[in-house]
Amino acid sequence: MAVFVTRRIPAEGLRVLSQAGGCRVQQWDSEEPVPRAELLAGVAGKHGLLCLLSDRIDREVLEAAGPGLKVISTMSVGFDHLALEEIKKRGIRVGYTPDVLTDATAELSVALLLSACRRLPEAVEQVKNGGWTTWKPLWMCGYGLSDSTVGIIGLGRIGQAVARRLKPFGVKKFLYTGSGPKPESGAEFEAEFVPLTRLAEESDFVVVACALTPATQGMCNKDFFSRMKKTSVFVNTSRGSVVNQEDLYNALAHGQIAAAGLDVTTPEPLPTDHPLLSLKNCVILPHIGSATYATRSTMAVLAANNLLAGLRGEPMPHELLL
Ligand code: NDP
Ligand code: DGY
Repeated sequence: MAVFVTRRIPAEGLRVLSQAGGCRVQQWDSEEPVPRAELLAGVAGKHGLLCLLSDRIDREVLEAAGPGLKVISTMSVGFDHLALEEIKKRGIRVGYTPDVLTDATAELSVALLLSACRRLPEAVEQVKNGGWTTWKPLWMCGYGLSDSTVGIIGLGRIGQAVARRLKPFGVKKFLYTGSGPKPESGAEFEAEFVPLTRLAEESDFVVVACALTPATQGMCNKDFFSRMKKTSVFVNTSRGSVVNQEDLYNALAHGQIAAAGLDVTTPEPLPTDHPLLSLKNCVILPHIGSATYATRSTMAVLAANNLLAGLRGEPMPHELLL
């Protein structure tokens, strides 16, 4: 079986592939994304493809691969970079990496929320640039979680893990929204299912943890931000396209909301002259939700095992049901 791996991945994952009998691995062995032309050439004639969220796997790639392609395994839980309709039409199986990155991503979401609401990057900057002159009663104040209402957009694996971590901070009420009420997911937090508009209006903190789909694309827009409280904090660790960034910029710049924390943007990387980067009340991270050594290693091993199982026609550890 011939497979193409689109990036340098943690060694543990590659070892799983190289130790599997009968698997010929070709790899784009670089920290940087595979150029499109190399992807199209690399995938030609392969049976398996191990890719990342930065690789757009569309019809062109599937056609370049040819009819022998049996499995696509993405080293991510998000799968919005895969043209699922085209993939399904060709009978190709898809593996992904849920669960193993939930803790790391939830932890980062909480870190980002606290950084934004307690203004940590701004405060660190003040220490460095001499802005810290003395202790001042009203200086560098922000907003705390105690007695707050937290609204979670997408109470899935990561959304629940975020709620579980935030609860001990003294959150008074959890709200959530999604495609429908999920009583079994909300029970642990006594979370109430509400429409998006009510979540925006009542939350002190909004955490976006949903998948990017046609329904969620651009969901956090001008109308959404205009409903939020002036003192509220917005956090997104899902995908950049769930947010209309121009609308977010305006909401932050005009004091419609207090602050934002983003681990994901459109595009990625965000150009260094992007208006959002000029705002003090916007903390932006470079898509590092799952970035712990252990998590990335486990993701790579899972992606490799998904690929092998698919190639052998066996059940995958985590198959995306199309
Ligand atoms: P899950 O599938 O467990 O959760 C996805 C959630 O999205 C579900 O609760 C679902 O709710 C919700 N959702 C779907 N449609 C809507 C909608 N229209 N409105 C509101 N919510 C909706 O996935 P995970 O929790 O494992 O991962 C979630 C996403 O997080 C991934 O898809 C990925 O994009 C992102 N991610 C980002 C990382 C980072 O590094 N920043 C790391 C890992 C993941 P329902 O069931 O009601 O439809
Ligand atoms: C994912 O897995 O979808 C994340 O965005 C990166 O881990």
